[in-house]
Amino acid sequence: MGRAMPSTTAPRTYRVKSFGCQMNVYDGERMAELLGSQGIAPAAEGEDADLVVLNTCHIREKAAEKVYSDIGRIVKDWGRDDGSSPLIAVAGCVAQAEGEEIMARAPAVKMVVGPQAYHRLPEMIAEAVAGRRAVDTDMPAQTKFGALPARRKVGPSAFLTVQEGCDKFCTYCVVPYTRGAEISRPYADLIAEAERLVEAGARELTLLGQNVNAWSGEDGKGRAVGLDGLIRALAEMPALARIRYTTSHPNDMTGGLIAAHAEVEKLMPFLHLPVQSGSDRVLRTMNRSHTSASYLAILDKVRAVRPDIALSGDFIVGFPGETEAEFAETLRLVEQVGYAQCFSFKYSPRPGTPAATMDGQIAPEVMDERLQRLQAALNASQHAFNQASVGKRCTVLVERKGKLEGQWLGKSPWLQSVHFTGEAAIGDLVEVEVTMGGPNSLGGQLILA
Ligand code: SAH
Ligand code: SF4
Ligand code: F3S
Repeated sequence: MGRAMPSTTAPRTYRVKSFGCQMNVYDGERMAELLGSQGIAPAAEGEDADLVVLNTCHIREKAAEKVYSDIGRIVKDWGRDDGSSPLIAVAGCVAQAEGEEIMARAPAVKMVVGPQAYHRLPEMIAEAVAGRRAVDTDMPAQTKFGALPARRKVGPSAFLTVQEGCDKFCTYCVVPYTRGAEISRPYADLIAEAERLVEAGARELTLLGQNVNAWSGEDGKGRAVGLDGLIRALAEMPALARIRYTTSHPNDMTGGLIAAHAEVEKLMPFLHLPVQSGSDRVLRTMNRSHTSASYLAILDKVRAVRPDIALSGDFIVGFPGETEAEFAETLRLVEQVGYAQCFSFKYSPRPGTPAATMDGQIAPEVMDERLQRLQAALNASQHAFNQASVGKRCTVLVERKGKLEGQWLGKSPWLQSVHFTGEAAIGDLVEVEVTMGGPNSLGGQLILA
């Protein structure tokens, strides 16, 4: 007996585990702040938490299945023999997509809370403590942000979600279903949150959105502005040193945003612009609404105004119907662009998406082989990009201590990880001479002013 009984005492400690994209990381931070404001403390490392929030991702099958193995592990490892059991909440995109299924499949889960409903966690915890399981996967347009407590201490590099949701409906993707329609958070709220983040110690802000460059709003004077307008306003904050944004869609890459890369010094020379495939036929069946040529034309425009821009992208191999010749077009595009870094995935059929039932599903071994070839090309491109930094100087935002004595880790303007030795402190912007360009990072020496 014992373990299956729900805990009836209010949780004193929590742990939030976030999977998936940076927006989930941001949501996880906000949930942690919310729980903190309820008097619940973060559990010490290695200790069981009374309340575990699994902030999940539904983008690929493997990511979604992880939730169930995690729930099993938490229950099995529960180290208390006082008859209690952990309070488990499933949040994020699996919660949105499979809320009822989780409740049925995993009795240990007491709360299911969708990405637009996590401001309701405190009430749901109270319900769970009273022995009632609760599901909230409503999608009210962004009531959550207004209902969350103020920001607390943050590191030198902080995330700020400015936009959520997606209206693009690529045929393989669950995001329009799990995150809902595109919405932009209001300008004034974002300026206020950015100010609080900077006061709390942030020197760099990464503006986040599933389609961040679709952000639109009205500035303080009532003028319509796009993401570039928001970036220009943020750049006015003296203590803020760096601005980044991710993820962008090719269709929303406006002239204003491209111009900002030339004109706003604090906007870092980095652009993550997913392309998915180099084949126009595949792009059409993906419903991407751009071609490889229109994608390359955008990159040309950005390079014309910011020649040192570091480029990044996302790729899917083995989309239904992808032929060897079409895959070769993806390799050719990679060759042409010269990416600084990239993400690449095997196509994963997702329930309810049009591509899942398309003809021509590709065999797993063919996908494996294509992914290996693509990743070899992307790794070589990344290594070459890093090697080209050797012998140059760059500014590094110091984010944390390294493993070795006197070593520090930070990021270059081009989002490369840089490790160096010398006198520094977290949050410093220092000049480093790059002496080593590895596959995944740069090494260097501090230049003394
Ligand atoms: N909004 C962004 C990113 C969304 S998800 C964009 O459109 O680019 C991040 C990446 O996951 C996508 O760019 C795509 O490369 C990948 N992805 C999405 N659905 C997938 C699926 N069903 N199988 C494999 N990869 C997928
Ligand atoms: Fe998914 Fe496409 Fe929207 Fe990106 S643009 S989130 S890939 S549907
Ligand atoms: Fe995953 Fe949801 Fe982000 S499906 S990638 S956590 S938007």
